Amino acid sequence: MKKFNLLILNGPNLNLLSLREKNIYGNKSISDLLNEINLISNKINARITHFQSNAEHEIINCIHKSYKKINFIILNPSALTHTSVALRDSLLSVNIPFIEVHLSNIFSREKFRHRSYISDIAIGMICGLGVNGYYFAIKAAMKYLVKI
Ligand code: DQA
Repeated sequence: MKKFNLLILNGPNLNLLSLREKNIYGNKSISDLLNEINLISNKINARITHFQSNAEHEIINCIHKSYKKINFIILNPSALTHTSVALRDSLLSVNIPFIEVHLSNIFSREKFRHRSYISDIAIGMICGLGVNGYYFAIKAAMKYLVKI
């Protein structure tokens, strides 16, 4: 049975999870998140890799490098969601299916967070469920990949 390659891609400031605005983003650190994701990956037919960067071009380079290597991206672009046409273009260029994830409910926050440059080209979008959003996205990605 084919093993799928999933990429969890996190944008600027997500390295500071558990330190930054705990009332919004919760107490779990990025390593807590990755440990839990590793446990999940042992149970499913997938290899899961992770990349986080505070630099827009690093995120875009990572998307480019994923071409023909990664079957599905679970992407929390953090603030780049609301600003980056370059991010959108990179996703369109490689044409890898992806789910957009946000820990917080971006629609219950400031108006500038309501706009996403990538939601309309995503398979789906999950927000407001904290780190659980990543786990649901992994499940949805696997269902999507098995079907295509
Ligand atoms: C975020 C929401 C963004 O608006 C914000 O800039 C982030 C995190 C989230 O996961 O809720 O850094 O993507």
